[in-house]
Amino acid sequence: MCGIIGYTGKKNAVSVILEGLKRLEYRGYDSSGIAFFHDKGIEVRRCTGKIKDLGALLEADKPFSHTAIGHTRWATHGRPSEENAHPHRSDGIVLVHNGIIENYLPLKRRLIDEGYKFTSETDTEVLCHLIEKYSKDYPLEDAVREALKEVRGAYAFAVINEREPGKVVGVKKDSPLVVGLGNGEFFLASDVPAFLNYSRDVIFLDEGEMVVMTDDGVIVTTLDGSPIQKEVKSVSWSPSMAEKGGYRHFMLKEIYEQPRAIADTLRGRIYPESGEVNLDEFGINEKDLEEIDKVFIVACGTSWHAALVGKYMIEEFARVPVDVDIASEFRYRNPILRHGNLLIAITQSGETADTLAAQREAKRLGAKVLSICNVVGSTSTREADAVFYTHSGPEIGVASTKAFTTQIIGLYLFAVALGRLKGTIRDDLVKELIRELLLLPGMVEKVLATDEEVGRIAKELFKADDFLYLGRGINYPIALEGALKLKEISYIHAEGYPAGEMKHGPIALIDEELPVVFLAPKGRLYEKVISNIEEVRSRGGKVISITNEGDTEVCTLSDHCIFVPETNPFLSTILMTVPLQLFAYHTGVLKGCDVDQPRNLAKSVTVE
Ligand code: AGP
Repeated sequence: MCGIIGYTGKKNAVSVILEGLKRLEYRGYDSSGIAFFHDKGIEVRRCTGKIKDLGALLEADKPFSHTAIGHTRWATHGRPSEENAHPHRSDGIVLVHNGIIENYLPLKRRLIDEGYKFTSETDTEVLCHLIEKYSKDYPLEDAVREALKEVRGAYAFAVINEREPGKVVGVKKDSPLVVGLGNGEFFLASDVPAFLNYSRDVIFLDEGEMVVMTDDGVIVTTLDGSPIQKEVKSVSWSPSMAEKGGYRHFMLKEIYEQPRAIADTLRGRIYPESGEVNLDEFGINEKDLEEIDKVFIVACGTSWHAALVGKYMIEEFARVPVDVDIASEFRYRNPILRHGNLLIAITQSGETADTLAAQREAKRLGAKVLSICNVVGSTSTREADAVFYTHSGPEIGVASTKAFTTQIIGLYLFAVALGRLKGTIRDDLVKELIRELLLLPGMVEKVLATDEEVGRIAKELFKADDFLYLGRGINYPIALEGALKLKEISYIHAEGYPAGEMKHGPIALIDEELPVVFLAPKGRLYEKVISNIEEVRSRGGKVISITNEGDTEVCTLSDHCIFVPETNPFLSTILMTVPLQLFAYHTGVLKGCDVDQPRNLAKSVTVE
């Protein structure tokens, strides 16, 4: 997620913006920039790298201004570069943006036809030119209103106009934007930490609200211009708490961000009416897709668990055989790949050495490579033939949570698109699968509401020495993921296992001390999971079940039950995952572990 900040007031806006950008660094970024009014108009300075590099650009002339905007960029469209860095400019209009303009391509084509010159690969620049176009006939706030009538997507932005010194206009839709009220000075930012040193009096803008900041004060309106009386909240957070949005840890914040991360990953990629998936984002043309006769998926850790889920989806929807490999094993097994095969590399960071080596091996053998990745411009994405970005925003916690669930979304979209292209999936089923996808963010919100109950269970079980996680079919990888989350966050030994396989050995572990977590959604393996639960209970094992709302049968057989909404078996994997993430989190906290930076772990394993 990008970070934006705006200021107007008595202080030197350049210093306030630079400090604010430093406060937003935790959000992750690859470039930054600032725009400030001075006697000859508006000046823009920007660069790749860190805020200190931007500071160095200002060191020479130490500019002073009363009004400025700034930006830290987390790339979603267009690689990290100075041209793609914000602020963007169109004549006298200068803008910084956080979000995704879904319909930027058709708007860009039209604006080019109207004579606008584009200097970046970003979606944001479209917004800048649109506002400039209308600013010829309207004051800035009305030009923004006119421009937004043509825009679809998620945005929080701050914009200034050379012809209106001292004014900053901001709008919020699907991305966060807050206003800080100082004494004769006003702040606009993605997040409270940006101005917490100057003010704790905050207006949290809601969907579709606009703020106009001038020396005279702050006016908040709806997008059609109706004034709104907003409550001013006093924020008591420490700067560290503020960076986590009020959550105790980044991991918890990122678990709670999953509804938005899923919505952002879907944005602009599906057409619900026709049930089509927008393949542009994958960057593989339909002819190459139709040629695919075998898929290999390689990944490490949590991403490998997503790969295992992807196998079920692709084989079910597209009837194409899928091999899944742990990346560090793949290139040493002398794999048989050739032209017509597709290798999918799944990697949150895009820098995992084993995954990079695997995708290079696949390319050497003549296969095409698709990277499913969360970091724009990372090595995996630069070396792949095609990329699907999971727009989950920077994942700060070492344990992967929102990246994992959005990886599953990427695989689901790919599997549906491939099946539709190969004619192996009926149109009516495609529409149903897409419809259920659109309902998913709301379903995840409902699962997050079990957080307190999960915390209670963790309080009862956190002293256990071992855990067993059991799942069948597509939920076996989720059992593996639940076990990994617990291991890496709480340092308790845990093992994920196919539920049907338990009686071939691990059943010897069952006793009153061993908590066994079952993934037991409705579906064609439900009865078999019930039998496995009974096998554990009859040996005195402690059973914790994740099951569907209203399922009393599983509950009577379990010591603890967490309910999740019912959906198709493929998306159900995401609903099954969230309680396991929460359980690992609470257990780790109860054990006094550093849940954001667990011992021995790195966020990206860039060595073999
Ligand atoms: C996830 O919780 C782990 N921290 C780790 O297994 C991670 O998934 C693995 O290192 C792969 O990382 P990547 O997705 O960035 O390639």
